[in-house]
Amino acid sequence: MADQFDVKLVEEAKYYTPPPEYRKNANMKDYEATYQEFLKDPEAFWASIAKELHWFSPWDKVLEWNYPYAKWFVNAKTNITYNCLDRHVFNHRRHKVAVIWRGEKGEECIYTYQMLYRNVMRFANGLKKLGIGKGDRVCIYMPMIPEQLIAMLACARIGAVHSVVFGGFGVTALNYRINDTGSKLVITADVGIRRGKSIPLKTLVEDAIINAPTVEKVVVLRRDEPKVELLAGIEVDYHELMEGVDAECKAEVMDSEDPLFILYTSGSTGAPKGVLHTCGGYMVGTYYTSKVVFDLKEDDLYWCTADVGWVTGHSYILYGPLAAGATVFIGEVVPDYPDAGNFWKLIEELGITIFYTAPTAIRMFMKMGEQWPDKYNLSSLRILGSVGEPLNPEAFEWYYKVIGKNRCPIVDTWWQTETGMQMITTMVGEKMRPGFAGKGIPGVIPEVVDKSGKEVKSGTLGFLTIKNPWPAMFRAIYKNDERYRKYWQTIPDVYTVGDLAVRGHDGYIMILGRADDIIIVAGHNIGTAEVESALVSHHSVAEAAVIGKADQMKGNLIKAFVILKLGQKPSDKLLHDLMYHVRMTLGPIAVPAEIEFVDKLPKTRSGKIMRRVLKAKELGIDPGDISTLEE
Ligand code: PRX
Repeated sequence: MADQFDVKLVEEAKYYTPPPEYRKNANMKDYEATYQEFLKDPEAFWASIAKELHWFSPWDKVLEWNYPYAKWFVNAKTNITYNCLDRHVFNHRRHKVAVIWRGEKGEECIYTYQMLYRNVMRFANGLKKLGIGKGDRVCIYMPMIPEQLIAMLACARIGAVHSVVFGGFGVTALNYRINDTGSKLVITADVGIRRGKSIPLKTLVEDAIINAPTVEKVVVLRRDEPKVELLAGIEVDYHELMEGVDAECKAEVMDSEDPLFILYTSGSTGAPKGVLHTCGGYMVGTYYTSKVVFDLKEDDLYWCTADVGWVTGHSYILYGPLAAGATVFIGEVVPDYPDAGNFWKLIEELGITIFYTAPTAIRMFMKMGEQWPDKYNLSSLRILGSVGEPLNPEAFEWYYKVIGKNRCPIVDTWWQTETGMQMITTMVGEKMRPGFAGKGIPGVIPEVVDKSGKEVKSGTLGFLTIKNPWPAMFRAIYKNDERYRKYWQTIPDVYTVGDLAVRGHDGYIMILGRADDIIIVAGHNIGTAEVESALVSHHSVAEAAVIGKADQMKGNLIKAFVILKLGQKPSDKLLHDLMYHVRMTLGPIAVPAEIEFVDKLPKTRSGKIMRRVLKAKELGIDPGDISTLEE
């Protein structure tokens, strides 16, 4: 990504300032003062935020930092669902709308906090009936429907650890996640709907559990009529499970450091990593950022277009916004079906006020043209957000002008599955700089450093690091302590993010992309190692190397270099077979856009494939240029 570094952009500061009311009315009115308050006493800062939430019993200590292991709100007891549900049901938000859902055909479903609360408790009792309890792992593989949120909350209610798998993943990816977590239960639906087509989730689950000895039962939400048959002895109907259960289910008393969920993210080497988050700190971090970054007000209608299967959905569809008492819109919808005006139509019809999406979507909207948003009245919009990859200046300006009508602040939020919460942004009301996410959110100390950890001068490319522990940070890579420690030991004493960044003279940070072997394709994180091993698992492939290739729309495309086994000949048919093979193994998001058959691959003496050499060749530049910055 170093090649995309644009020095001119760093020097020529150009700002956009939202109307002054934003700052005047913001939940965080003075960014600089709040940041100073945090620096003066970080623990007191976090404690005062945590006190806005409900705890069954208080902490002895805010932070215990035993590098690189952190404990936050030590010995405190809570349950995140108590804060997302009970806390609202027992005050003025009881009948406030918590979730509005729309399907592709315009079907609608609305849950007030009270309704969500009752459903979560009944489903939680259903889970107990199946023998699920505190500490058990439950895999959730569902479409974007309210029942997915209910399933997640029900797990958290009883202390079971959910592992949500994005509905776009294939059988092998699902099987890996089920086995790595040792899930006892899988919760799924018969189908998911996308662009008018049904995706047979239940069938994929049936294939994925063939070699998954820990799975005892599969709960199936049957949406289609006539209802699909269930496999006797293993599959249980979602609604039947709740028949006859008690309506009440008290929230399990969880230690602040008990696990809440595991979510897999691509690694730069080897298998995907099970990122583990815990109850207390994650709750505080996502609640706080939802409140101050999105500047949530009581009458907002908030829409995050991510899938719940990604961390963005965990933190900013479900836990953060509900802990903050927001009204959340979710949809089993896509931007360009039935036509390219779909999202704008939903914003107009529902009166969405906060809209959070990804740069890849914004670039797609740009390509589809202004005539689509211009057909609709978007005046309800108050705040726009972006996440997942760098928001390039052209996309920023388009988003600001065409969607925000030169009025709405854009919060470009930088964070990761591992960080659990947003870490860098430009707070609502502050002046915004296109191309730059912004500064550390109060509570977070980002630094741009060289390999030895020394801060680099402004305008110089370096590694993005986080200096201090923060409450929502991941506590472990599931069953792999070495991989966890690596994040903190690559550069001693700090959290190494894996991204390249540059700080402007004004302190604003521009993120340039990954420094390691992860490719972000249309906002999805894909590990080169995963795609390579999927290719090599095909009988005709001897070796494979995968790189990201810059793409105007998707940010990056996957390009694979493949060495065939002796006796195998390159052909179009084989090329398509390989693409199909990756699709079936990892899912459609990981399919290479290009496959090139080659005779050899550049390697180090130890046999490690030098992807950066391939990448440089692809770009027509000297590989030496970027070598100093890549691992
Ligand atoms: O490279 C950064 C990019 O996404 C990576 C994290 O991916 P993931 O764990 O899947 O989480 C995505 C959603 C939080 C980061 O290391 N990234 C995320 N947000 C931004 C970004 N790059 C630039 N600007 C952002 N706002």
